[in-house]
Amino acid sequence: MWDVMILLGAPGAGKGTTAAGLVEERPDWKHVSTGNMLREALQSGTQVGLEAKQYMEKGELVPDAVVMKIVAEHLRVGPKDAVYLFDGFPRTDEQAVLLDQFLSESGEGRVSRVFLLEVAKEVLVERMSGRIVCRDCGAVYHLTNMPPKQEGVCDSCGGELYQRADDNRETVLNRFEVYEKQTASLISYYRERDVLVPVDGLSKAVAVKAILDAVAGPVGES
Ligand code: AP5
Ligand code: MG
Repeated sequence: MWDVMILLGAPGAGKGTTAAGLVEERPDWKHVSTGNMLREALQSGTQVGLEAKQYMEKGELVPDAVVMKIVAEHLRVGPKDAVYLFDGFPRTDEQAVLLDQFLSESGEGRVSRVFLLEVAKEVLVERMSGRIVCRDCGAVYHLTNMPPKQEGVCDSCGGELYQRADDNRETVLNRFEVYEKQTASLISYYRERDVLVPVDGLSKAVAVKAILDAVAGPVGES
């Protein structure tokens, strides 16, 4: 059965960074980032990538049906008996409903926990202006907070590090607005379903530990 856990949080809250930390501790967990999948599609020039480009470069959301299709395909071809750690999906109430429908129709999965990474907005802005990512494996660094060992080179795979096209000031501000308008309502969606776990996102180590502790304990907000 697909055991789906979700990392929810504003742009720059550390969803990708925390997911990487969790997968280091639990290599059997499958990290699924729709942002990374869309950036890969864009880089390889697929139909989905071309369609997504116009939304991503403005910081708008890619249409729900497009994203759900990619996620469903990913789950269908992946192992069923696994923990899936979603990062950046769902992003709207509609996506959450589509995901629930997909999991219940297939009868093979459920959303077991949703971790809300909480970080002050000033910190988020600073994080995104210094973010650099690997063009090949998607690993995330920060120029001052989490620099790579060698400037411009990925520690994990040796790939080239670059600044994301949507990390410019104007797009970042729009992404915050989009988060408030279209994504923040998921907090109550999952709270009502008793699977929401707020997590302090200021320190990666603290967030990773809190999530691993929560997974070992009973479901629900503490
Ligand atoms: P996506 O790639 O998901 O971007 P996002 O949600 O805006 O989130 P980010 O990746 O910017 O932040 P993050 O929380 O992963 O933070 P990170 O770990 O990198 O989506 C991009 C676009 O794709 C969207 O705008 C949309 O167009 C489209 N899209 C994607 N999914 C979609 C969906 N489901 N539906 C529709 N459209 C979709 O950390 C940020 C920085 O901070 C890094 O530099 C990191 O090194 C640093 N940092 C992180 N944690 C710490 C820490 N604890 N201490 C110090 N520094 C830290
Ligand atoms: Mg990310």
